[in-house]
Amino acid sequence: MTILSLLTSITLSIIVFQAILLLWPGCSVRAQDGFISLDCGAEPSSPTYTDNNGIDWVPDASIMQEGEPVEVGTHSDKLLSRMRLFAGNASKYCYSLSNSMVKSKAFFLVRASFWAGASPLYKPQSVDGSYRFQLLIDADKWTDVKLPFFGNTTWWSHEMYVRAQHDSIDVCLARSSPDGDAPFISTLELRPLPSTLTPTSYMNSTGRDALYLGNRDDYTTAVAEYSFTRYPYDSFDRFWTSFGIAAEYSIITNKSVDGTNSVNLPPGRILQSALTFSTGFQLTLSSGEVGRTYVFVLYFAEINESVTAKGQRTFNIEVNGVLYNTEEPIDVFDRAVGAYEATSYTVIGSPSPNGEIIVNLTTINSSLFPPFVAAVESFLLNNVTSSAFSSSDDG
Ligand SMILES: *[C@@H]1O[C@H](CO)[C@@H](O)[C@H](O)[C@H]1NC(C)=O
Ligand SMILES: *[C@@H]1O[C@H](CO)[C@@H](O)[C@H](O)[C@H]1NC(C)=O
Ligand SMILES: *[C@@H]1O[C@H](CO)[C@@H](O)[C@H](O)[C@H]1NC(C)=O
Ligand SMILES: *[C@@H]1O[C@H](CO)[C@@H](O)[C@H](O)[C@H]1NC(C)=O
Ligand SMILES: *[C@@H]1O[C@H](CO)[C@@H](O)[C@H](O)[C@H]1NC(C)=O
Ligand SMILES: *[C@@H]1O[C@H](CO)[C@@H](O)[C@H](O)[C@H]1NC(C)=O
Ligand SMILES: *[C@@H]1O[C@H](CO)[C@@H](O)[C@H](O)[C@H]1NC(C)=O
Ligand SMILES: *[C@@H]1O[C@H](CO)[C@@H](O)[C@H](O)[C@H]1NC(C)=O
Repeated sequence: MTILSLLTSITLSIIVFQAILLLWPGCSVRAQDGFISLDCGAEPSSPTYTDNNGIDWVPDASIMQEGEPVEVGTHSDKLLSRMRLFAGNASKYCYSLSNSMVKSKAFFLVRASFWAGASPLYKPQSVDGSYRFQLLIDADKWTDVKLPFFGNTTWWSHEMYVRAQHDSIDVCLARSSPDGDAPFISTLELRPLPSTLTPTSYMNSTGRDALYLGNRDDYTTAVAEYSFTRYPYDSFDRFWTSFGIAAEYSIITNKSVDGTNSVNLPPGRILQSALTFSTGFQLTLSSGEVGRTYVFVLYFAEINESVTAKGQRTFNIEVNGVLYNTEEPIDVFDRAVGAYEATSYTVIGSPSPNGEIIVNLTTINSSLFPPFVAAVESFLLNNVTSSAFSSSDDG
């Protein structure tokens, strides 16, 4: 059996955005309960800025008095045109995020975004020209930030699912060493999450307080308009980035897909296209940290109108060569209860000694239609080995 491989990979790295424009018409619905959206470095007196997605941004000066605002050049996203630079000597600079929804044990998505500008902000310490500093959350290290300087409009974002310990969440920036690069930040966001998503219920059941997002890939033929999906399509404002695939490996529909019956509540439009190949394909996570646990949420919806009953499209999922769905084959039509309905399936794995996690979707001989997948989220669980977890996925 041949299998399509190396077509795609699950990269657990910082999300890179290449001048993605946020150009959807503003949504009249304002369901942003609990959102905190900070425009770092904006004039303290600036009025609330509503972007094209209908998200309201406020100057970070309301909660941050340290550091200095810097205009870094023109970017298509006005929010990235300015930043706050922390050039002082403090061991760290902290944003304390709080509102009525931030309570002990509640779940949140926290996202920090960065654009260093079109010309160098300052000369980074490293000869490779990348800016390096640290992000911390509630005093624990979140990640080492590494921002290559390109001199164009490419920008970066780090995202994490976190459980509040108190009635505030501290997000801090720090130099990697006393004489390391001065940290900076363009935007900082907090979004409440329900405890019922697969990743948050996994955090709940393992008692862990953080999951780091690797990627949220939406497999699609590259249609510019669909290159990026967030709020208001996604009520939690998750970023779904288009992972371009060749038309011959894709299945597309114009019919709307309902994401509301799936526990993970994906925006319907990310399910209108999927990656597919006759006998199957493999998704590869390379350079994973050996001994760490990774969580992948695979999203599906049956969008081929020729599939009209359960049993017609069935496939298996193997993780590093071992059958994962040991109970029964994956049958999207059956799990989602019909076509044009969303379902998800979670795979938890640890890398093989060479750092790889290979997720194979393989056809089974009785299936009339090939395996497919519409989107994949990948997370690194904070420092813990997998423990008992009963999946709360659909179906
Ligand atoms: C920015 O430069 C990098 C490195 O040369 C390149 O990979 C990337 O595609 C560029 N992005 C844009 C938006 O031009
Ligand atoms: C940082 O510390 C150095 C000496 O350690 C001092 O000379 C300098 O003024 C300090 N800078 C700031 C911004 O506090
Ligand atoms: C979270 O965990 C607690 C204790 O294990 C459990 O009682 C509760 O039902 C869990 N909540 C969810 C949403 O899974
Ligand atoms: C549905 O599946 C059949 C068989 O694989 C294929 O020939 C057809 O092109 C598919 N339709 C769409 C819209 O992808
Ligand atoms: C979707 O709609 C466009 C424009 O109406 C059309 O060109 C395209 O063929 C349609 N695609 C499918 C899969 O129906
Ligand atoms: C994935 O499937 C292909 C084809 O069956 C196989 O050659 C490959 O070894 C599989 N990879 C893993 C890691 O199971
Ligand atoms: C499917 O594979 C199984 C196990 O390899 C085999 O027993 C069965 O006969 C096959 N069914 C068909 C329809 O080929
Ligand atoms: C993981 O956490 C334990 C205790 O919570 C700690 O001893 C260990 O060093 C941590 N490992 C890593 C890789 O951070």
